[in-house]
Amino acid sequence: MRVGILTVSDRSARGEREDRSGPALEAMLIAQGWQVVRRAVVSDDQERVEATLMAWADSAEMDLILTTGGTGFAARDRTPEATLAVVDRLAPGLAEAMRSASLRVTPHAMLSRAVAGIRGRTLIVNLPGSPRAATENLEVILPALPHAVALLKEAPDSEAGHRWQPPHSHA
Ligand code: MTE
Repeated sequence: MRVGILTVSDRSARGEREDRSGPALEAMLIAQGWQVVRRAVVSDDQERVEATLMAWADSAEMDLILTTGGTGFAARDRTPEATLAVVDRLAPGLAEAMRSASLRVTPHAMLSRAVAGIRGRTLIVNLPGSPRAATENLEVILPALPHAVALLKEAPDSEAGHRWQPPHSHA
């Protein structure tokens, strides 16, 4: 699994606030044995986010792009709009699962407008901005990501292992 992590934050892009979410996500992915091939911090400028997502997805260097930040209600929060502008297909189940699980932690979960979708063979998933929210949300979707990426790559064995637990055998 090759992953790109894009931190979307005006303050971090200006160097006013250290990006802690990108490194926190990277640590989780490395613990899974996954490869973080790109990491960048950009401002909340929608065109900038779109351009980066397009360049990364079209480079074919990564299977998954995680964004962190810019999913809330603040005037500059445009990450979902940037993502929707560049994906060919939606993957709403990932965002539904994250919001649903996060609601058990905080009612503010419903304030994340995060979306997920597919551009070519790259899955793009928005995560909220704080390190805690970003890692809590990634934790929710992590178990489904290998199968998602296998399907995008059309690997021959991609139908294997899509159950949480193997069905009971009566043999
Ligand atoms: N989800 C989880 N699991 N934990 C959190 O602390 N914070 C919420 C929400 N989702 C949160 C969460 C808050 S306070 C906001 S405003 C939204 O994510 C959007 O965050 P963003 O604007 O930083 O992207």
